[in-house]
Order: sequence, then structure tokens, then C-alpha cells
Amino acid sequence: MHPLTRRTFMQIGAGSVAAGAASKIRLLEPAALWGADRVVAPSDRVRFASIGTGTRGCELLQASLAVPGIECIAVCDLYDSRHEAARETVQKQVPATRNYREILDRKDVDAVIVAVTDHQHRKVVVDACAAGKDVYCEKPMSHTVEDGFAMVDAVRKGNRIMQVGSQRVSSIVYQKAREIYAAGALGDVFYIEASWNRNSPSGAWVYPIPPDASEQTIDWNAFLGDAPKRPFDAARFFRWRCFVDYGEGLAGDLFVHLISGIHFISGTNEVARRAQSSGGLFRFKDGRDFPDLIETVYDYPTFRVSLCCNLNNDSGESIKFCGTKATLGIGGQTLTFTPQDVSLKPEEYSLLGWPARLRKEYLAQWSVEHPQSGPLDYQTVEAETFTAPDGYSDVSAHQANFFHAVRTRKPTVENEEFGNHAAIGCHLANYAYFEKKIATWDADARTIRG
Ligand SMILES: NC(=O)c1ccc[n+]([C@@H]2O[C@H](COP(=O)([O-])OP(=O)(O)OC[C@H]3O[C@@H](n4cnc5c(N)ncnc54)[C@H](O)[C@@H]3O)[C@@H](O)[C@H]2O)c1
Repeated sequence: MHPLTRRTFMQIGAGSVAAGAASKIRLLEPAALWGADRVVAPSDRVRFASIGTGTRGCELLQASLAVPGIECIAVCDLYDSRHEAARETVQKQVPATRNYREILDRKDVDAVIVAVTDHQHRKVVVDACAAGKDVYCEKPMSHTVEDGFAMVDAVRKGNRIMQVGSQRVSSIVYQKAREIYAAGALGDVFYIEASWNRNSPSGAWVYPIPPDASEQTIDWNAFLGDAPKRPFDAARFFRWRCFVDYGEGLAGDLFVHLISGIHFISGTNEVARRAQSSGGLFRFKDGRDFPDLIETVYDYPTFRVSLCCNLNNDSGESIKFCGTKATLGIGGQTLTFTPQDVSLKPEEYSLLGWPARLRKEYLAQWSVEHPQSGPLDYQTVEAETFTAPDGYSDVSAHQANFFHAVRTRKPTVENEEFGNHAAIGCHLANYAYFEKKIATWDADARTIRG
């Protein structure tokens, strides 16, 4: 029996925290990208083409240069200047076309990277699968719930490899977080919150319109696809995320990354059962359809998730898993694991309102009921921080994972089912926001109900 000393009691009573917040910082070591340790024979090389070489398409082509054993052999985009941008990025005069079917007809194309606008994902992916190509499709996988299931069916029917482009699931930081979560170090996790805030015209998708943009340089009708017909409008072509016909606003742009990260870390592969959203269009009143602030609360079977994206503040991206034993937070390429002191201790706060004699009696009784083998005091709580090395690119890692899956025919880290579930989370958020109702996921009927 080790009764509390007066000193310890006073510390507790005064609310002092013996738990030190010292933090160890560890550098995570990225695995070598597949093939980095050897020369890849030309016969083993994966030949791919890029469909959609806008901002992301070029970013992916740039990242692909770091992935050994792959070769870009063609590019496609509806806007001619993007052929030039793509060729500059791959540093090669690859053939370029406006018509993606020309690419799918080529027998020497093993795989395609699909980085077209969201409303075109379904058409391009379904056609690519039918043509026998493996597919890396940018996030969010689908523009609508129906699009997502059509793509899942096409991938399975064609027996194709598909990977969706939320690159955080290939990040060493997220892998570390998944490891910590799976080991149970967080205790029970009932609540997860994440946010992503930006504060710039570009962050709000008000991208500049290039001086040569016109109906001559852009295939406007092909861009519209199945979307409602309308006269050429460069703002819609370049700022498509603002409009429901082509994008999903903040949910499709940013929630999808947060949801994919949360699913990956927590080992979740299902759609949230319900979602409630709030938000509004406060600042960017430029004719767009979507709000510039949205918050959504999701019900999953064993935890709740709260997401918020705000285009009116620059506090960046963060995810926090709140467990009963520890908190795990990720900001950028850094993860912090902060254990909580869960050692057994007598009540402290409410004793402030007790007279000394009753406190003494309570503490004496508590000590009898909780015999300790050592001195009774707070445990040291040491936070650990893990970070990726400078220059680490989860985009290259994600691409390497995809091309590795193409070679091995093993499922990808973020396959069509995973991507579909994450995208449905975005559709739930928008449904709840626009319909002003709680959105419920009906998995059997594959539909959202209000
Ligand atoms: N993973 C990420 O972090 C990330 C980042 C940015 C964008 N994205 C995703 O990448 C995709 C592209 O976004 P972006 O920012 O590059 O947009 P963007 O407007 O810069 O480029 C999209 C390009 O797709 C082309 N396109 C549309 N339909 C086409 C078709 N049928 N055939 C050929 N080309 C077609 C357009 O001509 C346009 O140049 C979107 O799905 C977006 O959500 C992902």
C-alpha cells in the first residue's frame, strides 16, 4: 500500500501535469521504388499512356519520371496546348491526340493514367477496361454513385488492375499511422476529425485561363460529354470543380483525400452509414454551384468522423484520431503519436470542493482499494513524432505501387472498391448539403436516401 503523499496530492489538486510532453522525432525510411535497385529489361517495361494532361496529368507524368521500368508512349488531351505541356514534362516527342480511343486501340499500351475531369472518369475508365488496359484513375473515382458502380463492374468484367489516385494511401507516413492503429496503441477510437483549409484564389479553383483558350484549341463538345450542352465557356473548362455538371466541389476535391486516409489507417472498407452536412458559400460568389465551406459528420459502425474544408482560411490539412489511450495526428508529412496517461489514480478535480478531512478519508480508502506495487504518481507520457525525409513523394510511391501491381497482377493498395467507397462518402456529403437532409447509405440498393 502506498498512500499518496501530501506533495503528490497537492500536485494533482493543483492540476499539474507530471506527464512530460517530450517528443522523440524519427525519420521514416521510404522503401526503394520497385526496380530502383536494378536495370529493368525493355521486355519488362510497362508502357503507358496518359489521358488528361492538365495540371494533375502533368504532375503525374513528372512523378512517373522517378519510377523505374515504365515508359510513357502517348498522351491525350482535349486542349492542344496540353499536348505541348505533356511532351515538355516527359521530355520526349510522344504522339499526342485529342481522341483517347486512338490510345486504347494501340496494342503496345499496357496501362493508362486517367487524369481527366471527374465527370469523364466513368466513360474513359469503362472504355479502357473494355480495351484490356489497366487503369490508374484520379480521385475522386466517381462523379456520381452510378458512375462508381459502373466502373467497379467494368474493372471486374475486364479482369483489370485499377488504382485510384489518393496518393496518401501509399505514403510512408500513413503506413506508419496504420501500423500504430492496427497495434491497438490508440485504444478504442470512437472519434476522428480532419480538416483541410486553403485561402487563395487557386485554392478556391479560380485558375487563370490561358491566353490561347478557344473553341479552336479545345474540343468543347467532347469536354461536355454527357453533361448538359452549353456554349463554349472557358471558365467552366478550366474551373470545372466549381460546377456540379463536372465536379463535386470541396467534397470531391478534398474530402476524398481525408476519407481515403481515414479508411486506410483504420482498415475501413465500407461506406459511412449516414452523413449530415452544413456550410455555405460566403466569399467566392462567382457563379459557382458549390459552397466554399463545408462540414460533414459521418456515422460509421464503430466511430464518428467529422470533416471540414474551408476555402477562407489557410490552416492547411490535418487528421486526428482520438483514442482512449492516445491521439494520433497527421499534418503534412509528419505524424505525432501522443499517449495519454491512463494509469489508475484517485479522483482529483472534484475533491477541490471537499474539506481536508473528507479528502483524507477518501484518499486513504482509495489507497486501500487500489494497492500499488510502486510509488503512485503519473506515468511519463512521451509523444513520438515520425516524419518523411525531405523530397519524399507519395505521388511517385503511389505510381510505383500501381505499376508494380500491373506487373504482378496483385490487387492495388487503392483498388476500385476502396476508391468507390471513398467517393460515395463525398456524394453523401453533397447530398446532405444540397438536400438539407441526413443522407443515409443504402448499400443493398446502392443508393443514397434522404
Ligand atoms: N490526387 C490528387 O492529389 C489530385 C490533384 C489534382 C487533381 N486531381 C484529379 O485529377 C483529375 C484532373 O484534374 P486537373 O486538376 O488536372 O484538371 P485540369 O482541368 O487541369 O485537367 C483536366 C484535363 O482533362 C482533359 N479531359 C477532359 N475530358 C477528356 C477526355 N474525354 N479525353 C481527354 N482529355 C480529357 C481536359 O482537356 C483537361 O485538360 C481530376 O479528377 C482531379 O480531381 C487529383
